[in-house]
Amino acid sequence: MRRIGILTSGGDCQSLNATMRGVAKALYKIYDDVEIVGFEDGYKGLMYADYRIMKPSDFSGILTTGGTILGTSRQPFKLMRVPDENGLDKVAAMKHTYYKLKLECLVVLGGNGSQKTANLLREEGLNIVSLPKTIDNDLWGSDLTFGFHSALDVATNAIDLIHTTAASHGRVFIVEIMGHKVGWLALYAGIAGGADIILLPEIPYDIRAVVDAIRARVRSGKNFTILAVAEGAISKEDAALTKKELKEKRKNSPSYPSVAYALGAQIGEMTGQEIRVTVPGHMQRGGEPRPYDRVIATRLGAEAAELIRRKEYGYMVALNHGGITKVPLEEIAGKLKTVDPQSDIIREARAVGISFGDE
Ligand code: F6P
Repeated sequence: MRRIGILTSGGDCQSLNATMRGVAKALYKIYDDVEIVGFEDGYKGLMYADYRIMKPSDFSGILTTGGTILGTSRQPFKLMRVPDENGLDKVAAMKHTYYKLKLECLVVLGGNGSQKTANLLREEGLNIVSLPKTIDNDLWGSDLTFGFHSALDVATNAIDLIHTTAASHGRVFIVEIMGHKVGWLALYAGIAGGADIILLPEIPYDIRAVVDAIRARVRSGKNFTILAVAEGAISKEDAALTKKELKEKRKNSPSYPSVAYALGAQIGEMTGQEIRVTVPGHMQRGGEPRPYDRVIATRLGAEAAELIRRKEYGYMVALNHGGITKVPLEEIAGKLKTVDPQSDIIREARAVGISFGDE
């Protein structure tokens, strides 16, 4: 009997279950004698030996369900070497569980921090295969991450819904889109939802340019404006500060729940227009996986099983140029895939009149 461990780590997304199903179905097809061990709540389950022996039926009927049947939690990479409140050495504990259960390999579904921990466990000698999960699409080494397309659907729908009410009232609407430190989701949802202004962390904005773009719309007879703002969007002034200076500045400025509210106050004051802020928040990670995500989840899952069959460990399965590839974990760990301000998609968005608030 061979045993493969599996866990879902970090923020959830819609196609975690679909991806685990892909891995499991392919493994059950490859081997007659495989047992899948599911760890509860991500790396926490591996640390505290909180696991379930999964049955093939556990992976049935979950292609279309959001969330994760195993649960998840955030276990920050920077704390992995810090003992827990009872003095437990987390890395040693994870290794202990792995060896005690005689696992042949551990499959990790996770985003940036989780991939770093996956790499750490690889360095510690464990056989790891990982899969690129995150709605943020910020994993270096994969053109696309599973979860992104489903979140994009929700975020786009939010902007679509805002359109009619914004137009009826002639208001400026700011829709804040998730994405952590990168702007992929805001960029794609902004384009798909027909936003007039898109603000991304990768293209720091000048508030005067943002206001100019709103005024230009008013002059052309458009009584409303929609801004798709990434949660990590930052002004040019703030982007020029060091981390310490920025912290200090924020301490001494009026505090707002998030960037959209701060922008709303500034724009309202400068234009005199009526501003509203909408934050879809965690709804962007909710609901069922959309069809495209189900397809890539299945493909990535199947390839993870194939890597295990070939005993090719220490890789993240990735999607590049439309095909499935594998990337060594040590190449990914600690890197971020950001939007290139000079890329074609930005140029094309500008070509149709979208403002990025920078010029
Ligand atoms: O990484 C996914 C993500 O949804 C980010 O877009 C967001 O910044 C963060 O997680 C929110 O984290 P939490 O669910 O822990 O509040």
